Amino acid sequence: MPGIFQLSVDQLAKEAREIESLQIPAVILFGIPETKDAVGSSGYGEKSVVCQALKTLTDAHPELLLISDVCLCEYTDHGHCGVVAERGENKGIDNDATLELLSKMAGAHVRAGADVVAPSDMMDGRVQKIRDELDAAGYKEIPILSYAVKYASAFYSPFREAAQSAPQFGDRRTYQMDPANGREALREAALDLEEGADILMVKPALPSLDVLKSLREKFPVPLAAYQVSGEYSMIKAAAEKGWLDEKMAALEALTAIKRAGADFILTYFAKDVAKWLS
Ligand code: PBG
Ligand code: ZN
Repeated sequence: MPGIFQLSVDQLAKEAREIESLQIPAVILFGIPETKDAVGSSGYGEKSVVCQALKTLTDAHPELLLISDVCLCEYTDHGHCGVVAERGENKGIDNDATLELLSKMAGAHVRAGADVVAPSDMMDGRVQKIRDELDAAGYKEIPILSYAVKYASAFYSPFREAAQSAPQFGDRRTYQMDPANGREALREAALDLEEGADILMVKPALPSLDVLKSLREKFPVPLAAYQVSGEYSMIKAAAEKGWLDEKMAALEALTAIKRAGADFILTYFAKDVAKWLS
């Protein structure tokens, strides 16, 4: 992904200073561990790279809102978002075994300084499980930003390359949603709210504007949209070829996402946009 880099923990203070000086209010952290295994154990301990990063950022920059992505796929050697179980000749995801690890991860992130946790795994019941874990640990006030509507999208592949998290077999269609299904999005969003989600997110953003709009009309809660890696990379690549004006195309896409109902947008263009608009 052009302009996007993996950073080590010692580089974060400098990056955070730049982000704050651009008046960007929040960041979301994804971890890339030194080692991966079948259950993603480098992801949910207190020493995980995201916990180290959260501690560093909390100490250096108390003002920056810290959101942590909660998922196993960056930490599993098979690249899936959950624990894999054998099912006869086949393999499948063990939903409930995964919930235990995700809630552990969320707890560790909050203890390390996360202000908001954002589960992106798409297992059933994860919002409830994480809510219970955080409440029991005394973190009733920490909000959950749920990736409520996450389609099984072709637009995530630049992220998977950057985060070294592509699935090593099969695909993510058993837990991410079918882009052909619009009404399922409303059901998923309603369930997440019942389970205790505070903010709902839709992704990818531009291919899902209709869904964003219907969530906006139906649910009076904060809505986030994630302009994903492929949406970013397409504009970057076309601009590099001289086919599109990068600034105009990026701002038009972001404006459309806002127009459809997003209260805030996660975007790899954040630093560029802050500069363009200042
Ligand atoms: C991990 C995760 C992904 C993204 C955010 N969290 C990848 C995936 O589900 O394959 C996608 C982000 C992007 O494409 O920018 N669960
Ligand atoms: Zn994942």
